[in-house]
Amino acid sequence: MSSTRYMASLLAPFEPQVPTEVLVESLNRFYHAREADLYDARHPEIHEELTSVWKHMVEVGLPGRPDHDLRVLDFGCGTGFEAAMLLGADLEGRVGEMVCYDLSPEMIDVCRDTLWKTRVPIEFVTDGEALMEQSRPFDVLITNSLLHHLPDPLATIRSLMPLLTDDAVWLAGHEPSSRFFKNGQCWKTLQECERMRKFRKYVTPDKYREALRRILNPDADPAEGTARAALNEGLVKKKLSRDIIHRAVDCQVPHSPEEAHCGRGLDFVQMEHDLAGQWKLVWKRTYNFMGPYLERDLPNKWRLAARRLHECFPDDGASFCAIWQRGETQDAP
Ligand SMILES: C[S@@+](CC[C@H](N)C(=O)[O-])C[C@H]1O[C@@H](n2cnc3c(N)ncnc32)[C@H](O)[C@@H]1O
Repeated sequence: MSSTRYMASLLAPFEPQVPTEVLVESLNRFYHAREADLYDARHPEIHEELTSVWKHMVEVGLPGRPDHDLRVLDFGCGTGFEAAMLLGADLEGRVGEMVCYDLSPEMIDVCRDTLWKTRVPIEFVTDGEALMEQSRPFDVLITNSLLHHLPDPLATIRSLMPLLTDDAVWLAGHEPSSRFFKNGQCWKTLQECERMRKFRKYVTPDKYREALRRILNPDADPAEGTARAALNEGLVKKKLSRDIIHRAVDCQVPHSPEEAHCGRGLDFVQMEHDLAGQWKLVWKRTYNFMGPYLERDLPNKWRLAARRLHECFPDDGASFCAIWQRGETQDAP
């Protein structure tokens, strides 16, 4: 089963009135509009985990073009994280221009505020058609935590090819890896850890506080607003549940080996195969060896278990960053 068909089967009970791809994209727009102001505060882990990785990716991946300054496209820029990372790490000032694109105008507004001090001219775009009309090609594509929101990530990346130079570089940060769920040892260790966490969930008040907050202020919950917007706009006949909203917005995040095996999620080895002849994987790093749990928040026992998994299976962390180089490869189909 393909990832889209899997998503379609999850959405079917809510009687969608538009194709799955259109529904997933609309849910993403509604959700991120509601999350824009809170996004940075809700995702401190992005800064903590990724600052050093992005610095490294810029050091090894950002090309030099002696004849001109680099033009960079940040696709799915959100609040401006990877744009700020790139500009902060570009100590030689190779970047000359940037376009930040996102389908959420609310995210673009926050991004504009984040990047207002930069020396590099930045164009902010929310219209996908206007993006495709860019007259000069980009030397560098950057994405971060984007692919897992796309119904067909590789189709989206391929659609950007006409906008890029023939030797463009793509720096792709922080995506969930289905390899973690396909690795029996990683999955088994996560389940053991979860059994311990499930017990703890009942003895900590956080879960109840969060539920109470949602009851007292339902509008502060992006999933609730997204469910209402989808119903009001006639995209579904029955109101989507919070759980399904999260599953659809994060449409490439696998939760189990079964989901990973039926095509949900991203695997850089599979991507390399599927993109052969167009993009070559030149560098990658995987991390998060206890799946959704931040290792630093776990008791020592599980931190050590995560470290052991990392040593044994360095390619199978639950998240990955990668550098891709555009161009023909030997194994092109
Ligand atoms: C998890 S956020 C990441 C934002 C930013 N790149 C970062 O790492 O902080 C995902 C972003 O992708 C955007 N997005 C989702 N689907 C998209 C699509 N089909 N085209 C463009 N942007 C999309 C969302 O609006 C959101 O801003």
